[in-house]
This record gives sequence, structure tokens and C-alpha cells, in this order.
Amino acid sequence: MSKNHYDSISNKYRQTGGGNLSSKEVEAYCIARMPATYAAVSSVLKEVQGRIPTAPTSFLDLGAGPGTGLLAAQEIFPEIEKATLVEKNEFMIQHGKTTANGNWIQADLHSFAPTPHDMVLFAYSFGEISGQVEVLKRAWDAAKILVIVEPGTPRGFEHILQARNRLIEWGGKIIAPCPHMRQCPMQGGDWCHFSVRLERSREHRQLKGGELGWEDEKFSYVAFSKEENQPASARILRHPLKQTGNVGLRLCTQEGLVEKTISKKQGPLYKQARRAKWGDPFIF
Ligand SMILES: C[S@@+](CC[C@H](N)C(=O)[O-])C[C@H]1O[C@@H](n2cnc3c(N)ncnc32)[C@H](O)[C@@H]1O
Repeated sequence: MSKNHYDSISNKYRQTGGGNLSSKEVEAYCIARMPATYAAVSSVLKEVQGRIPTAPTSFLDLGAGPGTGLLAAQEIFPEIEKATLVEKNEFMIQHGKTTANGNWIQADLHSFAPTPHDMVLFAYSFGEISGQVEVLKRAWDAAKILVIVEPGTPRGFEHILQARNRLIEWGGKIIAPCPHMRQCPMQGGDWCHFSVRLERSREHRQLKGGELGWEDEKFSYVAFSKEENQPASARILRHPLKQTGNVGLRLCTQEGLVEKTISKKQGPLYKQARRAKWGDPFIF
């Protein structure tokens, strides 16, 4: 396996938004992309964990790839007893079976009928599905909690936004990241996304042709449930601007997008702002 295999995955994703990966390309995916998708899914599920009343005991991973989502979920929700992974690519399944323990089903999501599970996840797979509304509806009908994670690009965010609109229409209750269920205020070419930093292995650096020992994975996401839960009162939308005596925050709030400067005089609020990171909730 070589950098060519990684380059060919990148090209397939750029040109077709996915594509059927060969065995070598799947190996390259597991080294070069899986650590980043794992980090993004973990970060999302940790946020969800703090906002739901009951941990899931059954988990359905749709477009599971090598089982990334389940591996992240089991780390955060050790309560999971039953796991189902649905994937169309046989090489992904072969790889996945070596690490992710669950009921693997080789199927195309366009025709797959999911059975009920507490938590249903699309991790970096929703954007690859044409006819998304039907697939989304079947996933929603099967879920108590539905989580969708996409690349943190304008295109990824567009998929998230479309799903968000549908899920609100179908009576879903937002868990995260939004503090409200009104129309998304993100406009004018801007897109709601977050970032997680992960270390790169030597193999990872070689495949990607990168020098740095770390990378920042950008992702967009949304999580909905059928039952009431506790969404954030506000969400931090970029790196806080930490200066002497004040912190500048860009927030999504019930009143839309706001820029706030929190000064040292504001005591506990200032302390909270000093500690805060991009993507964190912010409590007024
Ligand atoms: C970018 S990979 C993400 C894999 C994994 N969820 C992760 O986060 O690393 C997208 C996966 O979705 C699968 N996929 C795309 N369309 C699908 C479909 N219609 N039915 C089943 N799987 C699909 C692909 O084969 C691929 O394994």
C-alpha cells in the first residue's frame, strides 16, 4: 500500500463524493482517514452523552466502513450490548470484522430496512447516499437517538442542514450542537463546523505526504432524539479570541448568531470563557 492508494481515495471522494474502494484503498482509508473520523465521532458522542437522560444499549452504524463509529461509541457508551453495522463494501467489512465486534450486514442503505436501535449513526456516510430523504426517514423511524457526522466543509454542512430541517419537520428534538430548533442562522457562505486535533502516526504522515505530527479534523454534525433532552443554551462557533482582560466569542444562541466580548469584570462568566474551546456549550 502506498501514497498512490491514499491519493486515489482522495480523488474518488473529490470527484464522486465516495465510490467503491478497492482492498488496498480500504487499507489506506484505515490508516489515513479512520483516526480522524474516529476522533470526530468520539467528540460528537461525548457531547451527546452529556445531554441525554439514558445511555443507549443498542447501536446501529449505517455506512459503517471499517466500524469506526461503533469503536468510538463503545468507548463512550460501555452500556452498548447490541451492535449492528451496515456497509456495502466487502473490503470495509473484512477489515471491520478484525476490530469491531457486532452483527455485520452487507447491504445497500437505499434498500435496507433498519430495525429499532437506541442510537443510530451515519458517520461520514450520509453525504454519500443519493435519495437521502427516504434513507433518513427509515433511519429516524428506527432510532431513539439519531446522530449524523459529516466532513466540516460547506458541502458536508449542507447535508447536515437538510437533515436537520427534515428531522425538525418529523418532530425530532435537538440534542446538539444547536441551542434551538429555529431556522439555522448560518448564512452568507459560512458553515457550522467544529474541529478536533489528533496525532498522526509515521505511516499516516507518509501516506498523506504531510510533515506535521498532528492534524485538525473539521466536522459538522447534528444529533436528534425522540424524547426531550437538554440542548446547550449557546454554542461556541470558532476558537475563542483570548486577549488580556477579555475573551471574544462567536456564539449561536436562541436569538441567532452573536459576537460577545466577555471581560474580566464578569467574574465567573470570564473564567468560563477563558477555559472554553471551539464547539463547547456556553452557559450564560
Ligand atoms: C467515508 S466512509 C465512512 C466510514 C465510517 N463510517 C467512518 O466514519 O470511518 C463512508 C462509508 O459509507 C459506505 N456507504 C456509502 N454509501 C452506502 C450505501 N448506499 N449503502 C451502504 N454503505 C454505503 C461506504 O462504502 C463507506 O464505507
